[in-house]
Amino acid sequence: MTKKIVVLNSKGGCGKTTLSTNLASYYAANGYPTALLDYDPQDSATRWLRQRPEDRPGIHGIAAGHSPGASVTRSFQMRIPPGTERIILDTPASLKRMDMIDILRGAAAIVIPMLPSAIDSYVTVAFIRELGSMSRTYAPAAPFAIVANRVRRNTRALSSLMEFLGRFDMQPVALLRDTQNYVHAAETGLGIHEMNRHQTRVDREQWNPLVEWLETVHSEHTPMSAVPAIEPCMPKPAFA
Ligand SMILES: Nc1ncnc2c1ncn2[C@@H]1O[C@H](COP(=O)(O)OP(=O)(O)O)[C@@H](O)[C@H]1O
Ligand SMILES: [Mg+2]
Repeated sequence: MTKKIVVLNSKGGCGKTTLSTNLASYYAANGYPTALLDYDPQDSATRWLRQRPEDRPGIHGIAAGHSPGASVTRSFQMRIPPGTERIILDTPASLKRMDMIDILRGAAAIVIPMLPSAIDSYVTVAFIRELGSMSRTYAPAAPFAIVANRVRRNTRALSSLMEFLGRFDMQPVALLRDTQNYVHAAETGLGIHEMNRHQTRVDREQWNPLVEWLETVHSEHTPMSAVPAIEPCMPKPAFA
């Protein structure tokens, strides 16, 4: 079965490319024919794929953030090899509404990375609200999951994030720690699931709830449209 997974957040630097490339690596390493569609014209995911060692399972890459050359149609550029089972979409921070609608069409799941900071919290919840209103108008909502990224245990930033999301009846499906393992993975065309097992044990454990959720998502999970409105006079979260 083909599953399209969109990694999305209007906030830059929250981990969209990190999650996209590590998801693609996870699926490829587990034997799923995988495609990685890089909608960001900055090409970070495409560059990651170029670094990928030849002895690792291949991932079909599409630089979707660029128009095809003069001799190629968009649909030819965007073709997915037959038999592909996992399609991961990495997206840029700013997406036009029509592009977002196009990108979300047929998505099985949306993964929303966010950093534990006050700015990221407000921007991300507002973005989820916007997605909700968009999906009510244009398309059936895909289930979504928040991934708290670059988390440090026992910090005020983390407890503030959990408290903030709790106000909207949301909680992250996974918490990923801040570690150089992701920086190393980004530079070598690998994902944490393909690196030294001892060094990445904690990270692989932290990924488990996300990949389990992605395998089980179906329409009964919270769609975007179920996210309640942000109160206009909300008290500021106490971020460290
Ligand atoms: N969990 C993490 N631990 C350490 N560094 C991270 C982590 N997640 C992302 N980064 C780093 O933060 C920067 C921004 O992440 P990136 O995935 O490019 O964000 P986005 O695609 O949303 O702009 C990159 O340099 C990346 O390597
Ligand atoms: Mg990116």
